[in-house]
Amino acid sequence: MGSFSTLSRSSSRLLFRQLFENESFTYTYLLADISHPDKPALLIDPVDRAVDRDLNLVRELGLKLIYAMNTHVHADHITGTGLIKGKVPGVKSVISKASGSKADVFVEHGDKISFGNLFLEVRATPGHTVGCVTYVTGDGPDQPQPRMAFTGDALLVRGCGRTDFQGGSSEQLYKSVHSQIFTLPKETLVYPGHDYKGFTVTTVGEEMLYNPRLTKDEETFGSIMQNLNLPYPDMIDVALPANMVCGLQD
Ligand SMILES: [Fe+2]
Repeated sequence: MGSFSTLSRSSSRLLFRQLFENESFTYTYLLADISHPDKPALLIDPVDRAVDRDLNLVRELGLKLIYAMNTHVHADHITGTGLIKGKVPGVKSVISKASGSKADVFVEHGDKISFGNLFLEVRATPGHTVGCVTYVTGDGPDQPQPRMAFTGDALLVRGCGRTDFQGGSSEQLYKSVHSQIFTLPKETLVYPGHDYKGFTVTTVGEEMLYNPRLTKDEETFGSIMQNLNLPYPDMIDVALPANMVCGLQD
């Protein structure tokens, strides 16, 4: 028991699941501290259409959901946080204060979100939207190693979110990624908000070497972002107003 439990202790607390919603290509993440008697859990970026799947899983695993969080106000799908609150009493919705959206808990840069003995650190990473945050697992002896960063749309696997609406700014996104994400240890696992090519995870070190946009200098990055010529998102007129109020409108 001795050496085995020492070896696995630091990572054995975290239960982690990556879930995919295949209409909006969105990843939802389930994290829980299963060494805590309550098994407190949180969901990052749940999608309205997948709420029943997510809550079933939470139930089957015997977890107690305490937070339903968003990395930002999404333009491509409706958040599941409002539906979740209706189905699981006591769950609190979480979003950044800078998003200007409604929620039970507003976070700012440097805040910590605790679930059992684990925590997420909030890093402000604006640029895709004005209120984007990245949630990073804690730094400490009892926290998961390597660390994990939930970047939303600030940093994607070999890509990044667009910067042409919702208060987006390529200058700001460049600064955010370089100062808040690329300064994490290189082995930090990066879990994106979406993927369209089948990737599931990357690392800080990998993106510092191979991200086709963010490895460039700031000026080149700006012109890449300006010339993407992306179509207006299908869902934006429905999703934005709904997501300002946890996905539920009267
Ligand atoms: Fe987004």
